[in-house]
This record gives sequence, C-alpha cells and structure tokens, in this order.
Amino acid sequence: MSNDRKFRLVALPGSVRAASVSKAILRTLRDTAPAHVAIEVFELDDIPIYNQDFDHDPPAPVRALRAAITAADGLIVLSPEYNHGMSGVIKNAIDWVSRPGYASILVDKGVAVFTTSESPLGGARAQADLHKMFLSTLSRVAPGREVSFGNTARTVVDGKLVDAALLKRAWTLIESLLAEIRLIQGE
Ligand SMILES: Cc1cc2nc3c(=O)[nH]c(=O)nc-3n(C[C@H](O)[C@H](O)[C@H](O)COP(=O)(O)O)c2cc1C
Repeated sequence: MSNDRKFRLVALPGSVRAASVSKAILRTLRDTAPAHVAIEVFELDDIPIYNQDFDHDPPAPVRALRAAITAADGLIVLSPEYNHGMSGVIKNAIDWVSRPGYASILVDKGVAVFTTSESPLGGARAQADLHKMFLSTLSRVAPGREVSFGNTARTVVDGKLVDAALLKRAWTLIESLLAEIRLIQGE
C-alpha cells in the first residue's frame, strides 16, 4: 500500500437531538480532518428500535448504516453518558449491525471510542461500556488515552468543539485508529 492512501471513517453520534453536542464534536472532527482522512458523520435519527425479526430484511435506514460501515475503513463512536452508561441510541444502532453474532461487519473493524457529557468527567463512566460492547462484536478498539469531552458548556460553542487540547487528544486517538486499521489491513 502506498503512504498517500486516504482513510475513510464513519462517525456515529449517540444522540439524535438537533442541538446535540455529540453531533457537533463529530462535525468538528470531520471539518478538521487532515488530507489523508475523510470522516462521514452518520446520524442515527432514522434508525428504528432493534427487532431481531428483521435481521435478514432490515429497514432502509439500517441497510444504509450497514453499507456505510462496510465501506468504511474504520468507525468512530461518540456516546453521551446517559445514567452512567452509553446512550440507547448507540447501543440500538450497534445491536442492528452486530448480527450475525461473531460474523458481522463489526468483526475486525477498527473503532475509536469517545464519550461526552456536560460534567467535568465528560461521560467517562460510559467508556467502559463501549469497550465491553466492542469486545463482544470482536471489533478492534484503538488503544490510547481515553478521550472524554467534558465541560461542554464552554468547550463546545456555536456547534463547534473549541477546546484545542481536547481536539488534539481526539486526533491522537484517531491516529491510533489509523495505525490499527493498517495492521488489520495487513500494511
Ligand atoms: C437521560 C439522560 C441521562 C443523563 N445521564 C447522565 C449521566 O449519567 N452522567 C452525566 O455526566 N451526564 C448525563 N446526562 C447529560 C448528558 O450526557 C449531556 O446532556 C450530553 O451532552 C447529551 O448529549 P448530546 O448533547 O449529544 O445530546 C444525561 C442526559 C440525559 C438526557
């Protein structure tokens, strides 16, 4: 593989509200991506509640999500902390794409996980949830220092992440994801 390849990443925000901080942060990552990275923010607003009856004939929004993940080199997941865990929005979306178990499109997919909350902890309690979930899907969570986007009343302003240090730490973790993808793809 050449060194000038481009990495395609799909980013899932774990909230569907219009003024979502999770969406804002992922859009900031998309808009600050270096030339070798393209990030598609895939909003989960239209994903219905998971129903195993439709595993083999999923609704159109789920088919679109599966296609986006399949086409991507890797995944970025950013969940708000809800009641000390990940949001149901993220869990529901991952449940849809996690079938068939141990043979889904998530197997050996590189993933970078992030959390957010308005508290100084930034949803850190939901980080372990995300790691545990992606263990079950046999995905490859990028190693690195945890990045939890906290204090969002001042770090996310006018729909943008404005904290340069947090943004830098996020990109350090995404670079770790790119290294993991290179390993997975045998480069
Ligand atoms: C149902 C619910 C539960 C929440 N639980 C927690 C929590 O346990 N810990 C925390 O720090 N923040 C909690 N929050 C605050 C959210 O993490 C915060 O509002 C976050 O920014 C929401 O994400 P969004 O802006 O992308 O919608 C909760 C918010 C809601 C709506």
